[in-house]
Amino acid sequence: MESPFKPEILKGKVALLTGGASGIGFEISTQFGKHGASVAIMGRRKAIVDAAVSSLRSLGIPAAGFAGDVRNQEDAKRVVESTVAHFGKLDILVNAAAGNFLVSPEDLSPNGFRTVMDIDSVGTFTMCRESLKYLKKGGPGRTSDNGGLILNISATLHYTASWYQIHVSAAKAAVDAITRNLALEWGTDYDIRVNGIAPGPISDTPGMRKLGPDEINSTIRDVQPLFKLGEKWDIAVAALYLASDAGKYVNGTTLIVDGGLWLSRPRH
Ligand code: HXC
Repeated sequence: MESPFKPEILKGKVALLTGGASGIGFEISTQFGKHGASVAIMGRRKAIVDAAVSSLRSLGIPAAGFAGDVRNQEDAKRVVESTVAHFGKLDILVNAAAGNFLVSPEDLSPNGFRTVMDIDSVGTFTMCRESLKYLKKGGPGRTSDNGGLILNISATLHYTASWYQIHVSAAKAAVDAITRNLALEWGTDYDIRVNGIAPGPISDTPGMRKLGPDEINSTIRDVQPLFKLGEKWDIAVAALYLASDAGKYVNGTTLIVDGGLWLSRPRH
């Protein structure tokens, strides 16, 4: 779909995306690149990161890939520093890496719970922390009144409760708390905007392949106000809005992009 935004809205910006090689993360990488940003991708699987970088470069987007796991602080530090070494600065951090599987609470081991908390919540915090010195106002490549920004990909699961998702709900609730607390503290001290996006069910993503039974497509009309799944594009353009100057006064919010699904109940 054609972009509603001008192609230069992120001109000159450098973005680092965890989980940026697949699913929603890759679509954000692509749209950021198409709107002027240079894009660094972090992912655990080197072959997938390399393929994503080739694909971005084939579109003329300056791109670099770094293998790493957000659970490993050394990886986080190395990837942030490699991004700055490659592109000269860092303007935008997108935390899109996530772990997920469906499991009932009684079948979930504490280590399974911890694993998702480590990826989604601690990983997000670690990446933010390692990026701070480059994102803050006066950091390398930026002026004394011009901080960068952070976007955290969340979910709506924890607004109510979700079957077989206790670990992910807890992890995303923590992500939203990180968004609000950093928006307050780093907004005040460092001029860094910190926002989130909470996607609803998005077609053609690893999350939907894992979590969305096929029947969701046939039953969704009963519960989904807009009667359809979202597209990765919907999340990427929301990210463009928040990352561009259009979002310059938005700080500490998590934008729900789900067609109104989380509000809905079956009609009867
Ligand atoms: C129960 C499981 C499990 C499963 C792993 N574990 N998979 N428990 N059911 N299906 C438990 C293991 O038993 C183990 O605990 C612990 O978790 C760690 O497992 P590992 O396999 O060693 O972990 P690791 O190799 O690090 O992989 C972690 C992973 C990850 C979370 C499974 O590989 C993963 O999910 N990757 C997929 C990424 C993904 O789907 N991304 C999209 C997210 S979508 P024990 O006790 O045995 O040691 C999303 C959207 C949410 O987040 C909102 C949707 C609307």
